[in-house]
Amino acid sequence: MIKKIGILTGGGDCSGLNAVINGITKAAITSYGLEVVGYLRGYNGLYHNDFIPLDLKAVSGIMHEGGTMLKASNKDNLFNYRMEDEAGNVTYQDVSDVAIANMKKEGVDGLIIIGGDGTLTSARDFARKGVPIIGVPKTIDNDLPATEMTFGYTTALENIVDALDKIHTTAFSHDRIIVVEVMGRHTGWLALEGGIAGSADVILIPEIPYDIDKVVDKIKNRISGGREFSIIVVSEGAVPKDGDVHVRELIEDSADNVRLGGVGDVVSRQIAERIKDYEVRYTNLSYIQRGGIAAQFDREIGLRFGVHALESIMSGEHGVMVRYSAGQVDTISLEDVVGRGETGETSKGGAKYVDAKGQVVNVAKTIGIAFGD
Ligand code: F6P
Repeated sequence: MIKKIGILTGGGDCSGLNAVINGITKAAITSYGLEVVGYLRGYNGLYHNDFIPLDLKAVSGIMHEGGTMLKASNKDNLFNYRMEDEAGNVTYQDVSDVAIANMKKEGVDGLIIIGGDGTLTSARDFARKGVPIIGVPKTIDNDLPATEMTFGYTTALENIVDALDKIHTTAFSHDRIIVVEVMGRHTGWLALEGGIAGSADVILIPEIPYDIDKVVDKIKNRISGGREFSIIVVSEGAVPKDGDVHVRELIEDSADNVRLGGVGDVVSRQIAERIKDYEVRYTNLSYIQRGGIAAQFDREIGLRFGVHALESIMSGEHGVMVRYSAGQVDTISLEDVVGRGETGETSKGGAKYVDAKGQVVNVAKTIGIAFGD
């Protein structure tokens, strides 16, 4: 019998997280008479028993706000938790039982965990230990295969298109070549769909390895046709034909520890070496993509995910994740969809990639957008 539930948000923030929190809390209180608490800073809050009570007043007016009112952490895997003693010795320990003991102490009967692959892999592991748990998928990258859509992606796309519209004015006014790097990890959704709507001339995505000379050919072609500016959208995971993905850093204690970033800078320098008569500039949109007022779709799907997660836990479903499929929200077992960090990109938990021969890429190519291939 569930009387009190806990919510936490893990992984990177995005717009729509507050809509999920809002949906869970309102449904829990209004329709089921439950108590709700929100653990702060992801699993870290569960480990330290650091939470706030969530009532209707606490979640009032948060739906449109970006980020998460509960704060987030993209570290803190409680099944492999970093401990440092006074002498500075670091060990990794399974502290999941501490979290379960905290839940018991506070009378929290079930959890709704909102996050990406790393966060949801831990949710699966808590479910294996018998904790009533429902996952809610979150990503701005649109790379989770088990759900057709999540919240966060649409707002990120809007942010990218808005930035490209602005960058366009400078590129045009100064006859410049401007390289714009966007996020997306190892998938090119943000670059592709943002780049098309933002009138990019070249789009480089991980799914289509690029040849820098082909990129330069396209720019020269535009120049000789009288279009003396170009916008090149580069996904942070873009790979050259003869090279590797550009890793910025490795983050200790993160379930998904590779951080990308900087390939746009490399691309802009390579273009500048090959085109001397035009100025080349580089902009990395970075976290600007992730923040801001949530788009309508992200609010709606966040709310629907939250309410469905709550209804699922109340109907006795455990160890599942809500997802969006053919216009409906339903559930799927966490066992079937998470674990990318454990098993590699090609497993059942692997990423959802852009189809390099699919309709969207073809439309882009048909109107002359180059992919460097
Ligand atoms: O997964 C969301 C995302 O924003 C990626 O697009 C990006 O590669 C990564 O998170 C950045 O992570 P961090 O917030 O740790 O820098």
